[in-house]
Amino acid sequence: EKEKTLAIIKPDGFSGNYTGEIKRLILLSGFSILKEKIVHLDKENVALFYAEHSERTFFPSLVKYMTSGPVVVIVLEKVNAIADWRALIGPTDAQKAKITHPDSVRALCGLNSERNCVHGSDSPQSAAKEISFFFGEMFSSGEVIAN
Ligand code: CMP
Repeated sequence: EKEKTLAIIKPDGFSGNYTGEIKRLILLSGFSILKEKIVHLDKENVALFYAEHSERTFFPSLVKYMTSGPVVVIVLEKVNAIADWRALIGPTDAQKAKITHPDSVRALCGLNSERNCVHGSDSPQSAAKEISFFFGEMFSSGEVIAN
């Protein structure tokens, strides 16, 4: 059964010109790209998207990072898309990824546990929530850079 998941190429990935290489890896790994857009998040968007992290000490820094420039939001589809995209991006800490998962996306373009260049939904529930966050009603009034 096919599954959908949300991928984000974060500001460091986008500004570092990794979008093309990441999309090449996505397609090479058998995912279909169903939807894609470039958006610039504001504080409120990030606070909603990462609401579960709002009490963490790194939260203010995460907000600064995620609002620092445009991001690419992508809906991916394939059998087992959620787990397979998480496997392809590697561990949260990009420093660790470079050692344990050298072929992962975060090893390729991430810097540390915050600036890890990509996001992936972690469960079917969050995938559904995150896809409708960006492609449903609520974000249709947000700042879209390109479609
Ligand atoms: P992501 O997988 O998008 O989910 C939450 C994000 O918070 C994570 O990627 C990182 O960008 C950031 N993050 C998670 N853990 C830490 C941490 N220990 N220190 C700083 N940022 C973090």
